Amino acid sequence: MKNNNKMLAAINEQINAELYSAYLYLAMAAYFEETNFKGFAHWMHIQAKEEMKHAMRFFKYVHGRLWQVNLTDIDAVKPNSWQSPQDAFEMSLAHEKEVTKRINNLMDIAISTKDYPTQSCLKWFIDEQVEEEASLDAIIQKMKLIGKNQSLLLMLDAELGKRSSE
Ligand code: FEO
Repeated sequence: MKNNNKMLAAINEQINAELYSAYLYLAMAAYFEETNFKGFAHWMHIQAKEEMKHAMRFFKYVHGRLWQVNLTDIDAVKPNSWQSPQDAFEMSLAHEKEVTKRINNLMDIAISTKDYPTQSCLKWFIDEQVEEEASLDAIIQKMKLIGKNQSLLLMLDAELGKRSSE
C-alpha cells in the first residue's frame, strides 16, 4: 500500500487538528476552573476527551489501511484566556466550523481519488460535526438570553456540569 498519498497526508494533518482541538478545550477547561465555573470546566474536560477519541478514530483507521501515522507538533493555544464564558463558547463554535470545513475537504479528496473506505470513515465525522455545531450553538443561544444575569449563568453552569461522557 502506498504510504505517501495525498489522502494519508491529509488524514495525518487531521489527527494533529483533532489533538489541537483537545488541547484547545483543555485550555478552556483550565480557564473555567480558574474562574470558578466548575460546570463549564467539566463540560470542556469531556469535550477534550471527545477530541482525543476523534484523533484515535483516525489513528486506528490509518493503521487499518496499513498506512503510517505521522504525529507532528501541536500548536500552543493562543490566546488561552477569554473575556467571558460566552466568549469561550463562541470561539469553540468558530473552531468547530473550521473543523467542519477540514472534514469536508477530506471528503472532497476521498471522492476525487475514489477512496471509498475513507469516504465511509468520514461519514461518521460529517454527522458528528453537525452535532458539535448544534450543541455549541444551543449553549450560546442560552447565554445570549441570560445576558448579565449571574444567577441564571450559574444555573447554566450547573446544567452543563451534568454532561456525561458519550
Ligand atoms: Fe473533532 Fe470537535 O471535532
